[in-house]
Amino acid sequence: MSQVEAVRGWIDQRFPLTAMWKEHISEYYAPKNFNFWYYFGSLALLVLVLQILTGIFLTMNYKPDAANAFASVEYIMRDVSFGWLIRYMHSTGASMFFVVVYLHMFRALLYGSFRAPRELVWLVGLGIYLGLMAEAFMGYLLPWGQMSYWGAQVIVNLFSAVPFVGPDLSLWIRGDYVVSDATLNRFFAFHVIALPIVLLGLVVVHIIALHEVGSNNPDGVDIKKIKDPATGIPKDGIPFHPYYTVKDLVGVSVFLILFSAIIFFAPEMGGYFLEANNFIPADPLKTPEHIAPVWYFTPYYSILRAVPPLFGSQFPGVAAMGAAVVIFAALPWLDRSPVRSIRYKGPVFKRWLAAFVVVFVILGYLGIKPTGVWGTFPAGLPLLGGAPVATLVAQVCTLVYFAFFLLMPWYTARDTFKPVPERVTA
Ligand code: HEM
Repeated sequence: MSQVEAVRGWIDQRFPLTAMWKEHISEYYAPKNFNFWYYFGSLALLVLVLQILTGIFLTMNYKPDAANAFASVEYIMRDVSFGWLIRYMHSTGASMFFVVVYLHMFRALLYGSFRAPRELVWLVGLGIYLGLMAEAFMGYLLPWGQMSYWGAQVIVNLFSAVPFVGPDLSLWIRGDYVVSDATLNRFFAFHVIALPIVLLGLVVVHIIALHEVGSNNPDGVDIKKIKDPATGIPKDGIPFHPYYTVKDLVGVSVFLILFSAIIFFAPEMGGYFLEANNFIPADPLKTPEHIAPVWYFTPYYSILRAVPPLFGSQFPGVAAMGAAVVIFAALPWLDRSPVRSIRYKGPVFKRWLAAFVVVFVILGYLGIKPTGVWGTFPAGLPLLGGAPVATLVAQVCTLVYFAFFLLMPWYTARDTFKPVPERVTA
């Protein structure tokens, strides 16, 4: 017995190390037909680790204090060794996290991965998505730039629209009558410790839940149905290690090339990853002309702006924005198609999914545009005699967005479908 085996044996008698390695890695049998869309789970894990590591180093020099926060970030950028790299990795990482997670979620829509028996994988995933939104929102306040300050002001104020408890609720969140040092301190606490712990815990639950039921695949075929009688291993399954560890390394390499290209050549990404206004220190006495959230929130921001107030209350818009996120949770029970994967679903589902993607992108685009542009669309073109065309477009898109979900039981039950093969296709 080698020394390594001896140490492993010693550990295994006290902790199920080898058993866990086998269960989740070397003897976890994943469908052999994973494609491009299956890169994004491991990439999300990579970005999560990168965010935590770079975040630890940023925290070493950042000051969560309204008087010093902005200057401490400038200090990191100019004076701390490689501080600029750590900061750009973290700010680019935030946007890339959402790119990866949106593609990861889209894969679930394509292949019906949210459906039974993976409802909990999906719901926990949504919990991660909500946690990630909170994490990004609170992190954005920390540099204490104009957009940090006024973005937080606008979003926290939205809570005031909640009937009865609204004003108290937003006061409670802020800890003050306006966004202030108290707000910065509590957002810092949530951003660096509370939410990362929640996210890490949820990711562990996400993967345990997935391994309990097994991965879905591009055919939506249940590989556990056909097993080798001698070994009990699914005939269409291959061990995660070495096959998918190596495949995921390819994804990681390509991702890191892209990630580095952004960090080194376009860290602000034309204002989409880091906004120009955020290079100006927060000024509570001067509201910027145009306040917009970062790109990954803009589809929801558009929904907020598209829904008109009721008796002067913003609540319908706020409720619609919240519903637009939460409605994803109902998907496992909305899809009534007899088949999981889009490969075997009919043309009606395909068109609805395409429409959903198109309106999500349009809403995202409109959310970036200043409110003034919402009067004429495209920018500057006085269409329909200056009528609020962009508002109208956003309203139609919002309707399509919700119709995709609410009409799903109806159109998926009536749509045609193709027979699903017994085994996965090559
Ligand atoms: C930090 C964020 C996340 C991490 C680290 C993560 C990690 C993973 C990993 C490693 C897998 C297995 C590999 C793969 O299928 O790609 C997976 C599968 C899955 N994830 Fe996530 N995930 C995250 C967020 C989400 C979100 C936001 C959702 C949905 C709202 C989601 C839904 C799913 C589903 C449905 C599967 C099963 C896919 C299948 O078997 O076809 N995940 N996730």
